[in-house]
Amino acid sequence: MGILSGKKGLITGVLNEHSLAWHVAKLAQAEGATVVLTNTPAAIRLGTVAELAQAHGMPLLAADATQVEEIRALYRETHKLIGGPADFLLHAIGMSPNLRKKRTYGALNYADYQKTLDISAVSFHKMLQVAEEESFLAAYGSVVALSYIAAQRTFPFYGDMADAKALLESIARGYGYRLGKSLKVRVNTVSQSPTQTTAGAGIGDVTDMMGYADRLSPLGNAPAEDCARFVITLFSDYTRFLTMQNIYHDGGYSSTGMTPDHS
Ligand SMILES: NC(=O)c1ccc[n+]([C@@H]2O[C@H](COP(=O)([O-])OP(=O)(O)OC[C@H]3O[C@@H](n4cnc5c(N)ncnc54)[C@H](O)[C@@H]3O)[C@@H](O)[C@H]2O)c1
Repeated sequence: MGILSGKKGLITGVLNEHSLAWHVAKLAQAEGATVVLTNTPAAIRLGTVAELAQAHGMPLLAADATQVEEIRALYRETHKLIGGPADFLLHAIGMSPNLRKKRTYGALNYADYQKTLDISAVSFHKMLQVAEEESFLAAYGSVVALSYIAAQRTFPFYGDMADAKALLESIARGYGYRLGKSLKVRVNTVSQSPTQTTAGAGIGDVTDMMGYADRLSPLGNAPAEDCARFVITLFSDYTRFLTMQNIYHDGGYSSTGMTPDHS
């Protein structure tokens, strides 16, 4: 018996086998869940999610999470596939055109800034707004979005993604309240250590940053596999009254001050 036995859910953000979302999807399935995957048509074309989905027998649906009507169609199709409302939903979506173009925080292109916020944070609001409209989620369901500590503290290399993560965490609280009241659904963000993924590699000085965080964390950086283990507990019935929280899954980094291992 897995801890997600009988549960059904939708997982965004699998681009390839390094994606945090892929680790979550694999473990959810191993723990007994039925998993549906979704990503943009471009990501499905350019990444390896189609092969992964096929090899693991997970349905894969194309949708752009910034497009409300695509989310609606995605939910309707997912309902057909799983035969009713979903018990869990993972938002693992992030992208900054400004970071990609190496624009610093003081030289943002504002059209791209809007895109960063829309893709990385407002998409979460859109997914939850449409979830309510379409009764996508089951009572006592669980929603998780992946965040980073730059929402609370300044990390200059993280650029406008810091603002997106602050907004993402705020949306989790806003919807945690709404969905908790109406459906007993919980909504949390997991603030993960820096991890080697395609999105992670897009951040400037990522190797330095990962080494620094690793040295500063008493447990070391949390690996992707352990991020998945933690997210699975949040999807399980063992965390039914945990909501509206941003939980650091970072080996202790967020609570550590100055140490001999700083440099
Ligand atoms: N890697 C890290 O160091 C780290 C640390 C903390 C939090 N996170 C967060 O984890 C989440 C997953 O990122 P990852 O590191 O696994 O990298 P990743 O590149 O594997 O995943 C990012 C995903 O976002 C998807 N995406 C982009 N635009 C989209 C859109 N419009 N609609 C739907 N999907 C879209 C991409 O296709 C991709 O699958 C992101 O929110 C990221 O910010 C990552």
